[in-house]
Amino acid sequence: MDKKTYILGIESSCDDTSAAVVTDGGLLLSNVIASQKVHEEYGGVVPELASRAHQQNIVPVVQTAIKRAGIDKSELSAIAFTRGPGLLGSLLVGTSFAKGMSLGLRIPIVDVNHLHGHVLSHFVRQNPDDRVPEFPYLCLLISGGNSQIVMVRGYNDMEILGRTIDDAAGEAFDKCAKTMGLPYPGGPHIDRLAAEGNPKAFKFSKPHIPGLDYSFSGLKTSFLYTLRDALKTDPEFIEKNKADLAASLQATIIDILLDKLSKAVDATGVRTVAIGGGVSANSGVRAAVDRFCRERGIHAFIPERAFTTDNAAMVAIAGYFKYLDRDFCRYDETPYARVTI
Ligand code: KG4
Repeated sequence: MDKKTYILGIESSCDDTSAAVVTDGGLLLSNVIASQKVHEEYGGVVPELASRAHQQNIVPVVQTAIKRAGIDKSELSAIAFTRGPGLLGSLLVGTSFAKGMSLGLRIPIVDVNHLHGHVLSHFVRQNPDDRVPEFPYLCLLISGGNSQIVMVRGYNDMEILGRTIDDAAGEAFDKCAKTMGLPYPGGPHIDRLAAEGNPKAFKFSKPHIPGLDYSFSGLKTSFLYTLRDALKTDPEFIEKNKADLAASLQATIIDILLDKLSKAVDATGVRTVAIGGGVSANSGVRAAVDRFCRERGIHAFIPERAFTTDNAAMVAIAGYFKYLDRDFCRYDETPYARVTI
């Protein structure tokens, strides 16, 4: 009988320490995530504190992932790790750990582009008969740092068709939420408030830029000015209207996202659409993409919420495909803070 493949994935690009194990066919055996609470009081991720917390978390997180997978570390075939993009100090923890462990176990390491992980997260199977996308598909990758439409032709063959020229969709959520006095990250708070509000209560400006690129900075300014002007006459304006403000903001972001996605589908004729990244956890975005795909009669891949934020399952799956190609990483390769798809 052929030896089974077991890939350990390690994710440490920002403020989540995560480890996961996938086996043949992309079947997920475990996915452990330790989130860092330490940043909450600072209103954003503090890089120094993030790397320190990764150092504390990485051993127990990896041990738990291997244990939950029901295997021994000696059975691992390779270790995949996020090499970038992300915070350099955080990435160094995962990268160094992966190198050390692979040397100890005498197995290869596979470097993973975090963005590829998000795009390929749809190939993680929790059950052997789970549906996965067929190539080519379009992936709307929306997070705190990215808003892009990616043409995915193969596991390692991707092209960005459109990207944001300024802020990312997640930044638009977070910055507008901050203007409303909501805690960081504001996206989930807007999502929760929007469920109670009227999406047509307020109108905010939408960008008019050609092609498939996005822009969210104009919306942010328009939101800010609406609040500033209204607060002059009513200091309670935000408190009284927070659900309507959140619903209208979310509806505008969704309109902007769907407008270019629809153009990309028309321009390419591709019949499968997937979403990924932190903002793909948004209830409104998920419902809108689902509706859009139903109306067009095209396949939609909407990830489980656990796979929208940073997680090692997506690193393990991206690493699994590179492992099958024998595309290994050298030990003198270093992490990179910035990289595109
Ligand atoms: O992919 P991700 O976890 O990491 C970064 O790119 O940093 O994305 C984080 C982003 C944040 O901007 C956060 O506000 C947003 O995803 N986000 C959401 C929701 N959950 C997370 N935005 C809107 N609605 C949500 N439910």
